[in-house]
Amino acid sequence: MRILLIGTTGQLGWELNRSLNVLGEVAAFDYPEIDLEHPEMIRDLIRRVQPRLVVNAAAYTAVDKAEVEQDRAWKINAIAPGILAEEAERLKAVCIHYSTDYVFNGQKREPYVETDETGPINFYGRSKLEGEHLVQNADGAYVILRTSWVYSLRQQGGFVNKVLEWARQREVLRIVEDQVGSPTWARMLAELTASLVARGGGQLYDYVSSGRGIYHAAGSGGLSRLEWARAILRYDLHPEQQRVKKLEPAFSSEFPTPAARPLYSVLNCERFEKTFDLRIPGWEESLQLAMGG
Ligand SMILES: NC(=O)c1ccc[n+]([C@@H]2O[C@H](COP(=O)([O-])OP(=O)(O)OC[C@H]3O[C@@H](n4cnc5c(N)ncnc54)[C@H](OP(=O)(O)O)[C@@H]3O)[C@@H](O)[C@H]2O)c1
Repeated sequence: MRILLIGTTGQLGWELNRSLNVLGEVAAFDYPEIDLEHPEMIRDLIRRVQPRLVVNAAAYTAVDKAEVEQDRAWKINAIAPGILAEEAERLKAVCIHYSTDYVFNGQKREPYVETDETGPINFYGRSKLEGEHLVQNADGAYVILRTSWVYSLRQQGGFVNKVLEWARQREVLRIVEDQVGSPTWARMLAELTASLVARGGGQLYDYVSSGRGIYHAAGSGGLSRLEWARAILRYDLHPEQQRVKKLEPAFSSEFPTPAARPLYSVLNCERFEKTFDLRIPGWEESLQLAMGG
């Protein structure tokens, strides 16, 4: 099976490149070899590679910058996934795409299910929501995995590495307590994706067609950023290097950002687990594994 993977230098794409290659030959592309801002490049790539599976891990993920670079974010997050899905369907190939918890407004106080009303409160969320619609409109064999708070220890500026770094520099860390979500280890999400593909085996197109739709796939459970930071420090392999003595709760309003964030975006992933007969590990279990503990 030939697999076209887009976005291989990203947190998730990097892991997918490793998880998918036991299932087929992976043709992996990233910017600038493929620029999702240009529809003709996308069409050309898919027609050239002739994959049986298209996996799109690329996205415009700079949530704050998306408020000003709206045109770019829209082309990459909304238009491009629709074209990928359309071209995949022309070849009767499966399309796997990723979306976000930021399609919700964050007003709920219990885990979001797939049928909950969407209502993004920033441009990134709006562009990703339109991407979902356009993938669905292509009417092919698709799975959209909505995920949340993706992390990887490879990502220098990511939350996990930032907390480890701050803990080595400061005695007191102020971390927001009023944002609650589901931390998702990029490798775990890549493994879930590969396992889903493996379930389909030689009948992947029919298998995905019969279960096509949107699924929530994120680290199981939810917690605040403050609690997440505490857990990161707990699983730090070198606690002796930490200078930090105290973690203090802060409010999001103390750190104003150009884009608003939903305050609550925990995802209920039962539909994914039941449909594909897979287990999504708890956020803490994944964090411990990610940190080498
Ligand atoms: N990160 C999160 O917390 C989070 C939360 C919820 C959902 N998600 C979703 O999960 C998926 C994976 O996210 P991630 O965290 O792995 O993203 P990431 O690390 O930011 O990686 C994004 C990838 O997209 C590529 N890309 C950006 N612009 C492109 C363009 N014009 N053409 C082609 N490729 C382009 C990037 O390439 P360069 O590095 O060369 O720019 C990079 O490889 C995305 O769909 C994202 O929306 C992420």
